[in-house]
Amino acid sequence: MARVKALVAGNWKMNGEKASKKEVTALVRKLAGKKKLACDVLICPPATLVGLVKEAVRGSKIAIGGQDCHAKESGAHTGDISAEMLKDAGATHVIVGHSERRADHGETDAAVRAKAEAAHRAGLTAIVCVGETEAERDAGATLKVIRSQLKGSLPDAAAAKTTVIAYEPVWAIGTGRTPTPEDVARVHAAIRNVLEARFGAEGAKMRILYGGSVKPANAKELMAVPNVNGALVGGASLKADDFWGIISAYL
Ligand code: PGA
Repeated sequence: MARVKALVAGNWKMNGEKASKKEVTALVRKLAGKKKLACDVLICPPATLVGLVKEAVRGSKIAIGGQDCHAKESGAHTGDISAEMLKDAGATHVIVGHSERRADHGETDAAVRAKAEAAHRAGLTAIVCVGETEAERDAGATLKVIRSQLKGSLPDAAAAKTTVIAYEPVWAIGTGRTPTPEDVARVHAAIRNVLEARFGAEGAKMRILYGGSVKPANAKELMAVPNVNGALVGGASLKADDFWGIISAYL
């Protein structure tokens, strides 16, 4: 198994205002001097706060990402934001294909792939999300669904530096429920197989994050699962203490 440096990414979703800067500042303080930390740290605030949070992390190793981008570089797309704009605002990463975007905005695998390609065009790392619904899981279709989402959502040019996979079972997001470590291991191994078959050595090095109700109390156990190379954290990334509790799994 290739050695892959972990990434702990916070997805603030539609949460946060200027006052949230104090949580970022608190996190920067907790990270200061932690040279042995074996993971990278990323915060994905809403687009309105990318510039402000970028300012707040100045001098630290925390990276900033967007939560979505349009496939095009610019143009008549009211309300949308391009990967180039996120990059210009200080982002290095962008989440694409989160299940909430797939559900709320009808994003298809092809749309997600176009967004990931846009991220690459702009020089951003794309965090491509996949995950089965509860009904799909109950029907025993988890691996089939994940393989199909990966096939349709990942650009052919994906490489380890430019592309991160996030496995987020839809039923585990924001519910406090998580799959067992055995279930996570089974899905992450299947994802690794798909990545290696399609991208060779690059696929062996791509980060595969687990997401869905990651908390300080379960982070250590989940992050120890083979082929889990970090976490995508929603609710627990909003407070510096909770997010730090998860990051600490890598101390
Ligand atoms: P959660 O969200 O940690 O609040 O479950 C995870 C995500 O949707 O990225």
